[in-house]
Amino acid sequence: MEIDRRIFIASLGGTAAVGLMGDEAKADALEEFMSARLNEAAAQQSAGTAQQTANTPQQFPSMAELEAQIDTRPTRRGVGNLFTARTGNVKRLDKLPAHPRLVDFFTMRFNNTSNHCLQSATKALRSGMSEEVVLACLLHDVVQEIIKVDHGWWGAQLFEPYISEKAAFAIRYHQALRFYADPANGYEYPDLYRRIFGHDYRPEPYIEATYQMVRKHKWYGEARMVTVNDLYAFDANAQVSLEPFVDIIGRNFKQPKEGLGYDNSPVAHMWRTIERPDAPL
Ligand SMILES: [Fe+2]
Ligand SMILES: [Fe+2]
Repeated sequence: MEIDRRIFIASLGGTAAVGLMGDEAKADALEEFMSARLNEAAAQQSAGTAQQTANTPQQFPSMAELEAQIDTRPTRRGVGNLFTARTGNVKRLDKLPAHPRLVDFFTMRFNNTSNHCLQSATKALRSGMSEEVVLACLLHDVVQEIIKVDHGWWGAQLFEPYISEKAAFAIRYHQALRFYADPANGYEYPDLYRRIFGHDYRPEPYIEATYQMVRKHKWYGEARMVTVNDLYAFDANAQVSLEPFVDIIGRNFKQPKEGLGYDNSPVAHMWRTIERPDAPL
């Protein structure tokens, strides 16, 4: 398979980010990049097939069909990316520096979510969103490295001690808002959710209640903009880099001098878990 070096480097966050990576991490990243390309090629092929049968409506699984798959897998769907391999075995992780910063986690631990989040933050930056919205977009899904279930709530909790209340609000509630269309603000219900939740999925009562609360809240716009700038498909050609966000992080993220995981904050253990997911207990 031919690899475009520029796209590969950009997908990792640019040359500066690559410079921080160890050889093993680079090799792993290359493998991951290639498998993403393969998936993309397969998706394009099936899209071609889908176009040929344009008169046939798109097929999405039902909730019952998705539930029937649960005991066909070795791991549950909500498991974080760091704890399971998509194919084969998990990889060894490079050691983080002594006082790890957010950018270290981005380049060395958020390997499965950073591209998606950088694409989302780039879109927000280009459309002139506030720094708080751009930051919320940059951070909105990275907690999926440890857990996917209720990732809006987990994600807001992970970042709450270090960012504004408004940015944490936007991260927490993007999860509920994404199930509710808001065409006036440019948000339609994505086909992706028909595929992963089932075409007959209806949000649970706690999600519905959360949505009703958030839509009347003064910060509804911020949370909604995370869903508007979210990406619902992997764009293989997107050129992303952490570079444009370094100053925004500097102004809006209170980096603890002891390092994330070592500042005795109520969420320090969550950062240590991301740092050392191979610890047995
Ligand atoms: Fe999300
Ligand atoms: Fe997302």
